[in-house]
Amino acid sequence: MDFLILFSSLFPLLYAAAAAAEPCSVSNCGKNEVPIRFPFHQLQNCGYPGFNLGCRSQNTIFLELPYSGEFYVRDINYLDQQIQLYDPDDCLPRRLLSLNLSASPFLTVFHQNYTFLSCPTQITKSRFTTIGCLSNTTHSVLATSSISLANRMASSSCRIITTLPIPVSWPIKSEEEFTAELDDDIQLTWYAPECGECETQGGTCGLKRNSSEEIECSYLPKPSQRSGGLQVFRIICLSIAVPALACAIGIAVFACCLDNRRRAGVNPAQRNNSPAAVLPQPMVVVAGLDESTIESYEKLVLGESRRIPGPNDGTCPICLSEYLTKDTIRCIPECKHCFHADCIDEWLRMNTTCPVCRNNPSAEDANPHTDPV
Ligand SMILES: *[C@@H]1O[C@H](CO)[C@@H](O)[C@H](O)[C@H]1NC(C)=O
Ligand SMILES: *[C@@H]1O[C@H](CO)[C@@H](O)[C@H](O)[C@H]1NC(C)=O
Ligand SMILES: *[C@@H]1O[C@H](CO)[C@@H](O)[C@H](O)[C@H]1NC(C)=O
Ligand SMILES: *[C@@H]1O[C@H](CO)[C@@H](O)[C@H](O)[C@H]1NC(C)=O
Repeated sequence: MDFLILFSSLFPLLYAAAAAAEPCSVSNCGKNEVPIRFPFHQLQNCGYPGFNLGCRSQNTIFLELPYSGEFYVRDINYLDQQIQLYDPDDCLPRRLLSLNLSASPFLTVFHQNYTFLSCPTQITKSRFTTIGCLSNTTHSVLATSSISLANRMASSSCRIITTLPIPVSWPIKSEEEFTAELDDDIQLTWYAPECGECETQGGTCGLKRNSSEEIECSYLPKPSQRSGGLQVFRIICLSIAVPALACAIGIAVFACCLDNRRRAGVNPAQRNNSPAAVLPQPMVVVAGLDESTIESYEKLVLGESRRIPGPNDGTCPICLSEYLTKDTIRCIPECKHCFHADCIDEWLRMNTTCPVCRNNPSAEDANPHTDPV
């Protein structure tokens, strides 16, 4: 009890110590679709000032702009220093009408003046592109980059709401029509901190020690590259293990088939020689179990349910074919692994171990089973 109390009072201390050592380590938000790294960070006072990101339910990352509220982050381009944002409520034009980037480190990449108009729905109906999420049954909202078009409409029954510089991904010549493109994501850029160059050269950008604004570029291997190395190691191991396993299974199947063929017609004298012929390593002396030991292992004929006792599934691990009703199977008593009787008998004539778990049934040979079932 005392120990438990001591431990539980120690635990928060240990936890605090760990947190203090690595105060800004935090797991990425959700599915890692948007990579989060310097200058961005999910924790307040980590990363660069103004670059805090938050995590919403459904694994969505958001950016809070000081005067414009929350935007969801679609993507971050660290090389070009651009961030792509969208509206959680799916009505970007409404957000653009009140977009104010002051006090944030972000700027528009390009912008274009757009005029927003409100027109009676009767005159816009099916003639112009309207902004659906700002319109209602009586009034439609439209936007155009053409001042002259806006003025012409205003002289009829429309009302100009406002003219605003709107962030665009590319500057376009103002067009004599109403736009449908304000639903696209907004692209913003930042100039400080300047990490694009460092990123381009494969470096890791970060704050200088004890500094809240100065940055430095380091070229240490990134954690992702280390885990990449681990990945390569795993792939190499797999690429060796899989062919080796396939090879072993192939030899076992071959042995099983060969045995079936031989049983069909070849005389028994030749059968005794056959194992040596199919052994993977010819130098190994055939040292399997003797026929009476093999025969002492439990043998059963599968019923309609084809249910097999012990840690077995529906296929024979040696020939990889499914067990069928009335198949004769034999199980190794020590480990309870079962196989087609033909397959395992052939195996045990050449080997003394279970082909699945490599347990050695002959280890108990000093006290052999003599009660056949
Ligand atoms: C942005 O908001 C701030 C604070 O409300 C205000 O001082 C500033 O004038 C606004 N900028 C624009 C372009 O509206
Ligand atoms: C947008 O309008 C402002 C005045 O509201 C003007 O100063 C600016 O030059 C215009 N920009 C473009 C690209 O037309
Ligand atoms: C539709 O919107 C206009 C403003 O654009 C507003 O004056 C009007 O009351 C709204 N009508 C309805 C039915 O909500
Ligand atoms: C960083 O700040 C700590 C105290 O906050 C100080 O002990 C340490 O010497 C400083 N290191 C450098 C390189 O300035």
